[in-house]
Amino acid sequence: MEKIGRRGFVGTMLAGSVVLLAPRSATAADAKIEVLVNEPIGTISPEIYGHFIEHLGGVIYDGVWVGEQSKIANVGGIRSALIDQMRKIKPGVLRWPGGCFADSYDWHDGIGPRSERPRRTDFWISDALKDADKPQVYDPNHFGTNEFARFCKLIGTQPYLAANLRSLPAKSFYEWVEYCNAPAGLTTLSKMRAAAGDPEPFGVRYWGVGNESWGCGGNLTPEEYATEFRKFIAWVPSYGVKPAFIGSGPNGGDWKWTRGFFTALAEKGDRLINSLYGWGLHYYCGSTGKRDATEFTEAEWYELIGRADRMESLITEHWSIMGGIDTKHRVKLIVDEWGAWHARAKDMPETYLWAYPGTLRDALVSGLTLDTFNRHADKVVMANAAQLINTIHSLFLAYEDKFIVTPNYHVFEMYAAHQGGKSVRTTFTAPDISIAVDGRPSKLWGLQGSASLHDKELVLTVVNPQHNQPQATEIAIRGASIRSCQSRVLSSTDIHAHNSFANPRGLEPKDASVTASGPTLIYQFQPASVTRLQMTLG
Ligand code: AHR
Repeated sequence: MEKIGRRGFVGTMLAGSVVLLAPRSATAADAKIEVLVNEPIGTISPEIYGHFIEHLGGVIYDGVWVGEQSKIANVGGIRSALIDQMRKIKPGVLRWPGGCFADSYDWHDGIGPRSERPRRTDFWISDALKDADKPQVYDPNHFGTNEFARFCKLIGTQPYLAANLRSLPAKSFYEWVEYCNAPAGLTTLSKMRAAAGDPEPFGVRYWGVGNESWGCGGNLTPEEYATEFRKFIAWVPSYGVKPAFIGSGPNGGDWKWTRGFFTALAEKGDRLINSLYGWGLHYYCGSTGKRDATEFTEAEWYELIGRADRMESLITEHWSIMGGIDTKHRVKLIVDEWGAWHARAKDMPETYLWAYPGTLRDALVSGLTLDTFNRHADKVVMANAAQLINTIHSLFLAYEDKFIVTPNYHVFEMYAAHQGGKSVRTTFTAPDISIAVDGRPSKLWGLQGSASLHDKELVLTVVNPQHNQPQATEIAIRGASIRSCQSRVLSSTDIHAHNSFANPRGLEPKDASVTASGPTLIYQFQPASVTRLQMTLG
């Protein structure tokens, strides 16, 4: 049990031992968090805790799909260990098949007996890989729409399909909707679905209309994309499930893309704005695959965290631009690709693009990003970490029968408690940290987080980015009083801490009871930590 109280000693667990700092009074804390339980922001959509899988490197083959004949434990070809872990974190939604891959994908390729499906060159092929006879490079299409829908069912999540807008006509999109959602036995396509083993409709609600249409999805201008978008969504049958169309949104701070698209869409009137459910922002921090994931300096620790924190202003700026045209804010923000992007780990195969285990640094990126989404629960209705397994900001790393969870997984597990809660306004006051981002001096907050209310339960998550400094903090609950408190902390004295196939439990969260009663408590946030405090309020 951690010794933490309003007037007692402040204790913290460091490297397995309790370090007792000087006795402090409540006023000794130099940071403060105020949770205003009577100031709701909005409901935290479970879809904010969403994921993404693409036919890229080792994500599908062998991350998700190992095949029914594999010696690796599987359910209908899908890796069992992945299913088991996913169930624990309550994934809100899963996006597939891309990414850039989506705009080269013909869904027909993934239907029918697997042995007869075509073998295609994957979008992500490069000259360095062209001679590799691997499913990561030449896709056997063994994982198609039915397999994806079954994976979603097995892990208890909703499917989100990204349609090909660059290289297939709108007709193919309508037919995919029909294949997925038409009632059993009524159309040729729903019979085709049944023949593939799934008579009952998949009930897919979320449909992405293209991906990164400003780049790999066609190099379109926002005006050209608006024209294509209108055409694609013009007459899509609903089969009892109203499609929620997601537009291919901006790359980071491309304000022109958002303004241009909304302006062009609105030219045809309000009805068209109404037909857009969400606007899909993409933002990656990190080196886009160039720098090492596990070896970095202290300066690079702060730089990545500072870059990740840009999510805050991206949300508010794009939201404000959207509001200039969609004045009632009917269209919500979706961040359907986010994460820290580093170079592939040297011990992962060359075909497993950007596969690495991630470190505590990435966990802090996860924590602060999910906190940002929670704080903007009125604006952000879905987000998808890129990607689930074996690439970029992954929750898992797998190679044949080896499988581990990454620090990102632990953060998703800790933050799952926020899902469906009422995000409440919370203020954080702590000394800023001076950092450098891209060689320019910058400031980073000393503490940040989010809070959600679930009847009498309060979930407070907090990131302390200081790599070697604990942060004694007064936490004040305005409008309620604390009856009990439990903590779960992901931290290490080594900022490079991570899991590996040899040491799968190198970094794990630790639980403790926190002694607390009344409207405030003093809590010491560990250095380089992601903390969840769960409080019962009275
Ligand atoms: O997640 C990897 C790639 O990053 C996606 O395919 C693409 O949409 C983005 O540029």
